[in-house]
Amino acid sequence: MRPPRPNAYRTAWVDEARPARVDEEMRVAGWVHRRRDHGGLVFIDLRDRTGLLQLVFDPDEAPEAHAAAHRLRAEHVISARGPLVRRTDETVNPDLPTGEVELRVHEVEELAGADTPPFAVDDDAPVDEVLRLRHRYLDLRRRRMREALELRHAVVQSMRGHLHAEGFLEIETPVLTRSTPEGARDFLVPSRLQPGSWYALPQSPQLFKQLLMVAGYERYYQFPRCFRDEAFRADRQPEFTQLDIEMSFVEEEDVISLVDGLLREVLAVGGVELSGRPDRLTYDEAMLRYGTDRPDRRPGMEIEDLGSAFAGSQFQVFAGALSAGGVVRGLRARGELPRRRLDELTERARSLGAGGLVWAQVEEGGMWRSPVAKFLAEEEMAGASSALDAVPGDFLFLVADAEAVAAAVLGALRLELAPAPEGHDVLWVTDFPMFERNSEEDRWDPLHHPFTSPSGDLDADPGTWRSRAYDVVMDGLEIGGGSIRISRPDVQRRVFAALGLDEQEAELRFGFLLDALRYGAPPHGGIAFGLDRIVALLAGRDSIRDVIAFPKTASGSDPLTGAPAPVDDIQLRELGVRSAAPPPAPAPQR
Ligand code: AMO
Ligand code: AMP
Repeated sequence: MRPPRPNAYRTAWVDEARPARVDEEMRVAGWVHRRRDHGGLVFIDLRDRTGLLQLVFDPDEAPEAHAAAHRLRAEHVISARGPLVRRTDETVNPDLPTGEVELRVHEVEELAGADTPPFAVDDDAPVDEVLRLRHRYLDLRRRRMREALELRHAVVQSMRGHLHAEGFLEIETPVLTRSTPEGARDFLVPSRLQPGSWYALPQSPQLFKQLLMVAGYERYYQFPRCFRDEAFRADRQPEFTQLDIEMSFVEEEDVISLVDGLLREVLAVGGVELSGRPDRLTYDEAMLRYGTDRPDRRPGMEIEDLGSAFAGSQFQVFAGALSAGGVVRGLRARGELPRRRLDELTERARSLGAGGLVWAQVEEGGMWRSPVAKFLAEEEMAGASSALDAVPGDFLFLVADAEAVAAAVLGALRLELAPAPEGHDVLWVTDFPMFERNSEEDRWDPLHHPFTSPSGDLDADPGTWRSRAYDVVMDGLEIGGGSIRISRPDVQRRVFAALGLDEQEAELRFGFLLDALRYGAPPHGGIAFGLDRIVALLAGRDSIRDVIAFPKTASGSDPLTGAPAPVDDIQLRELGVRSAAPPPAPAPQR
């Protein structure tokens, strides 16, 4: 950081206090991080954004400043002036960048007092999250949060720098707009000037970036705020930030190769060096080997298909599943698993939709200790043991069911059984199906969004369509996703039709897109990354809340401002809105 313009508060940042500047008179400003009263001398660690510096108040040298220092407490705001001196060898603090020097304060000004903070700011001890969020301005003073936001800034800078160098234009798109579906519910904003009409906050800038391609901008990016009213999790917020990218006259390979270069640079900012370009896995392979389309490959422990090992099995559970067109698949785990744990895993498998779970411990010769061993032929056990590459002592877990159930159950058990992974794993998942069945509502839902280009025979059943979509997965988390888009209105109409939108409704909701596609739409495609997720992974945080300055809690509220909050009737009347909800309970006591 450049030195500040010298003014009445400071002539230097704290971090500028280094041995080279010893004997210089300096004025520094910031917060009292910690104060130690050693009878005679008072020591204060002063904190500004750049770090910490020890201030010394000596009653003989500056009695007035010393008296003032007695009154200072944690988090008071001060400005202090005096000569920078070298510390004696015994008092050097090697843990502090400024630990070789200290400022002998001759004059101190208290700029603001501070109530006793509800939690300590000078360490990173765990504090209840609601309390942290209610006093986020204090929480943000703590080192952990500052480091996270600094890393976030560095990540954003590297993304900007890379895309700028590649000729991308940063262009903003509206927040008050029409629904841009990405599979979640919309947040709506009533219009005062047109009562009864509503804006939707964008779930992503998807349609606007496509319009920018129709408009000839070729290479666009933006860091949009996206709004999705959906179930919260550690890796989800109702508003979150993307890095959004779109390019014209491109195929999958162009987007992937741009992103490979971008990710290499961005991850390096977080200290993660990619060895070579990320691997690619098709959706089918990922589902078969890891039971999920966002695999974490670090633990190994791949799922194996055991259909051929049990092809002629007399065991009803296996034979039944196979004859019904299902699968028998299994997983191997190492280490001791007590009976209680095996029962828990069986329960877990059931709760995930499996009819049950076969467990077995491999004995010498490949035979099994298992509740179902008596139903199985020796060759079956030996065949499955060898397919799973098992040695005596290993545990095996088998599910016989429809393919999707077996994948989901074994995918989840795999992660539960896996040892804590080390390092990082980045890969592409490609060749997704276009739709997934929504059996509750008896219709097709897009696996990505409805603007994704389908591939395959569009005259065949939509269940067989594939899409030109791709996801980037890091450590089992989907950090980005995109696709080549539909650039022909007739194809876009067919996708809407497959989704059950009739012509009229498609026209009503997406007419502007269908129109634009008739005015010279180039082939185009792109991708969007979850910025919060990338930063959280690089910062080693479990929740994206820890890399967002002002996040919301799991129930979607902000304990700091009290949002969401009731509004008064006058405001509602002006908007032409009547609330059907009962009046909210009074706000909790602060
Ligand atoms: P998608 O819906 O996959 O694609 O979103 C892109 C990435 O955004 C992140 N993400 C989230 N992060 C935090 N909280 C959330 N609630 C949340 N939801 C998604 C994920 C995800 O990979 N328009 C398309 C992109 C495109 O096709 O170009 C889109 O939004 O990391
Ligand atoms: P059952 O025939 O229901 O008594 O089950 C016999 C054994 O097979 C039990 O250990 C069940 O947990 C297990 N089992 C039942 N259904 C399945 C299934 N779909 N996949 C794997 N194991 C199962």
